[in-house]
Amino acid sequence: MTGTHDRTVVDINWNNLGFSYIRTDFRYLAHWRGGEWATGELTRDNVLHISEGSTALHYGQQCFEGLKAYRCQDGSINLFRPDQNAARMQASCGRLLMPAVPTEMFIEACRQVVKANEHFIPPYGTGGSLYLRPFVIGVGDNIGVKSAPEFIFSVFCIPVGPYFKGGLVPTNFITSQYDRAAPHGTGAAKVGGNYAASLLPGQEAHEKNFGDVIYLDPATHTKIEEVGSANFFAITKDGKKFVTPQSPSILPSITKYSLLHLAEKRLGLQVEEGEVYIDRLDEFGEAGACGTAAVVTPIGGIQHGDQFHVFFSETEVGPITRRLYTELVGIQTGDREAPQGWIVKV
Ligand code: PLP
Ligand code: COI
Repeated sequence: MTGTHDRTVVDINWNNLGFSYIRTDFRYLAHWRGGEWATGELTRDNVLHISEGSTALHYGQQCFEGLKAYRCQDGSINLFRPDQNAARMQASCGRLLMPAVPTEMFIEACRQVVKANEHFIPPYGTGGSLYLRPFVIGVGDNIGVKSAPEFIFSVFCIPVGPYFKGGLVPTNFITSQYDRAAPHGTGAAKVGGNYAASLLPGQEAHEKNFGDVIYLDPATHTKIEEVGSANFFAITKDGKKFVTPQSPSILPSITKYSLLHLAEKRLGLQVEEGEVYIDRLDEFGEAGACGTAAVVTPIGGIQHGDQFHVFFSETEVGPITRRLYTELVGIQTGDREAPQGWIVKV
């Protein structure tokens, strides 16, 4: 293990962080060879040296996760539901024939990376957090379309601010004719191929000044699936129900399941995972994008063909979206009581 005494002097404007790569001091690296994971280590080297025949490079045999560490008011550090990310990564690995990383190993790797890079955690109250990016890739000499002989599990971290415009500022989205995943494909796994498929539609959306794409169900293109980088939710016009799409081809968002719980248990709303038809958006008074990077981003409006549907407002956040945000972020940063098991202290 590399000594962690020699740390970069961090000179970051914490209040001005976006979502871009910043090289931090340490990352965790573990190899799978001969049928098992070797003990991982922290390393300063942010460059991977892998075979040119690695399946991750040719056949997309790789998956990743995203979770955050938060500085609390009392100085302690919270990880939000890392067991859920571990479980989802195990499912992604299973879908792509990669060896699963055990939950304890996953959480221990996250802990080590956060501790070693503690000086990069944005201070409490800045709205920033330390984004952790665990990933598994197929490596080793290979050329046939088959699972890799070796794998790497790594976790690196980056201090981040908002992914979209910031805080509770409404963002506009646009539907696309492209799909990010097939009806029975890999949409529910957090694998790079889904994101590769979303790069072109994402760029087209940005060129038209939209925050991201809203994907429709790949079979009929009549129902909202999710955003390219987050899940979708909406609140019915009477303010009584939290609705979010149910589909086998969307990523099962940990933030979405957390909001489903909070909407029901803390806000007293009815909750439903169901169908959200793109031509019935009038039923909703508020809508949002939710995810680790996106947190809870109010959706101002959605462009679909030549129609632009505005929900609550293009400039103001709706009251229920605000309450959901406050509840979720309060739990993550230690200001509100967390449901059992949601917070792991580093
Ligand atoms: N959907 C997609 C396509 C994503 O990339 C993400 C981000 O992880 C999410 C949804 C939200 O998932 P989570 O809340 O687990 O971060
Ligand atoms: C996340 O929220 O963790 C994501 O992976 C979304 C995006 C950065 C791809």
